[in-house]
Amino acid sequence: MTIKQYPKFKNFYEVRHPLLQHKLSLLRDVKTTKKEFKEFITEITLLLAYEATKDLPMTTKKIKTPLETFDAPVLEGQKQVILPILRAGIGMVDGFLMLMPSARVAHIGLFRDEKTLEPQNYYFKIPPSSKNRHFFVCDPMLATGGSAIAAVNQLKKVGVKRITFVCVLASPEGIKHFSKEHPDVLVFAASLDRQLNEKGYILPGLGDAGDRIFGTK
Ligand code: PRP
Ligand code: URA
Repeated sequence: MTIKQYPKFKNFYEVRHPLLQHKLSLLRDVKTTKKEFKEFITEITLLLAYEATKDLPMTTKKIKTPLETFDAPVLEGQKQVILPILRAGIGMVDGFLMLMPSARVAHIGLFRDEKTLEPQNYYFKIPPSSKNRHFFVCDPMLATGGSAIAAVNQLKKVGVKRITFVCVLASPEGIKHFSKEHPDVLVFAASLDRQLNEKGYILPGLGDAGDRIFGTK
């Protein structure tokens, strides 16, 4: 059993695959270099994406093998969309693209309003005719849940109906908050960590994901 479900969080899936968990421990380690950190994020995302895409709808297409013609299973509908939340979400795009090289890549930029502490949308670019596409929103960290909720709010506002959220670490506080706002959106993570600290960082966590991916600290 590589997926763990928690009775309290019905839309949350923790992927417990041994290789993924081993890589996650290496990712968390403070001694891990910037180069290794990015490589582990990519590998972890690939394994998460494998699970998060397991219910994509299928159809069949006639293909000719060297021996005969048959109805081969293929993905149905328009290309899927990967939506990283800037900035740290960008670190997860390569892992998704290794599995789904034709997926479209959209972007959303959020910053926190200093007075209200609410995430504000400063950039949003998605493909045309997105309403019927499946969106995979990605961000390594679901901490308070504010950024994830704001990104999904924005997608729903423009009519997107099929959304999955993929992160590396989630906090119980964040999942509770997210599930209350978006019970219809499944969340896949490598770990449900223990708690948030007073500054909104996940414990035991991995530190600031954006700074570790981009080497800005
Ligand atoms: C981090 C992280 C999420 C957000 C999670 O981004 O990548 O986007 O915090 O926190 P929340 O669940 O409380 O909203 P940050 O704002 O540090 O920006 P960055 O990606 O540019 O580092
Ligand atoms: N954002 C991060 O990058 N790390 C955390 O622990 C929480 C939010």
